[in-house]
Amino acid sequence: MSLTTLGLELPTDPRWVNIAEMNIGDILIDHAYCEQKAASSCISLIVQYSDKEAIVETLTPVVAEEWGHFQRVLKELRKRNIPLGRQRKDEYVNQLRSRLRRPIGDRNEQLMDNLLINALIEARSCERFKLLSENIADEGLQKFYRELMISEAGHYRNFIELAETYLPAERVRQRWKEFLAVEADIMATLDVRGDRMH
Ligand SMILES: [Fe+2]
Ligand SMILES: [Fe+2]
Repeated sequence: MSLTTLGLELPTDPRWVNIAEMNIGDILIDHAYCEQKAASSCISLIVQYSDKEAIVETLTPVVAEEWGHFQRVLKELRKRNIPLGRQRKDEYVNQLRSRLRRPIGDRNEQLMDNLLINALIEARSCERFKLLSENIADEGLQKFYRELMISEAGHYRNFIELAETYLPAERVRQRWKEFLAVEADIMATLDVRGDRMH
C-alpha cells in the first residue's frame, strides 16, 4: 500500500515508527480507541442515513470488523498486562473535524464530507500500520499490523466508493483533494509523538 495508492500527500515523519516502538503500550492503547471510534462512526452513519441502502449494507459489516479489531488490540494489551485506561485526546482527528467543518445545506454533500473524513483516517492509519508492520522487531505485532493494514485499506475504498454512489465522481475527487491538502497541513504541524497512532 503506497502513499500514491492512498492519495496521501505527506509521508509520516520517519522518526515516528521508532519512537512508537519504544512506547508500544501507549500506541496499543491509542490504537484500541481508534478502532472504537471507527466502529462508533460507522454506527452513526448507519443511523443517520438509514434510508440509504448502500450505506447500511456496506457499513454494517465494517462495524463488525472494527469491533473485531478493537477486541484484537485488547488482547495484545492483555498479553502485556497493560490496562486500557481512559481515552486520550485525539488531536489529529479533532483538527481534521474542526478544519474541515463547513455550513452545508445539502444532505448528500454532508454525507460525502462524513464519508471522506472516515476515508482519510483509514488511509493514514493504513500508512502507519504499514510502517509498524515493516519496522518493529516484535514478529507477532508485525503480522498483526500487516493484517489490519489490509483491512483498513478495504475500508478506505468502501468510503470513497460510497461517496461516489451519492455524488458525481468529479465532485468527490474535487472535495477529496481539499481534504488531502488539509490533512497534509495538519500532519506537517502536529508534534511527532510516540504515544499516538496519528
Ligand atoms: Fe480497524
Ligand atoms: Fe477501518
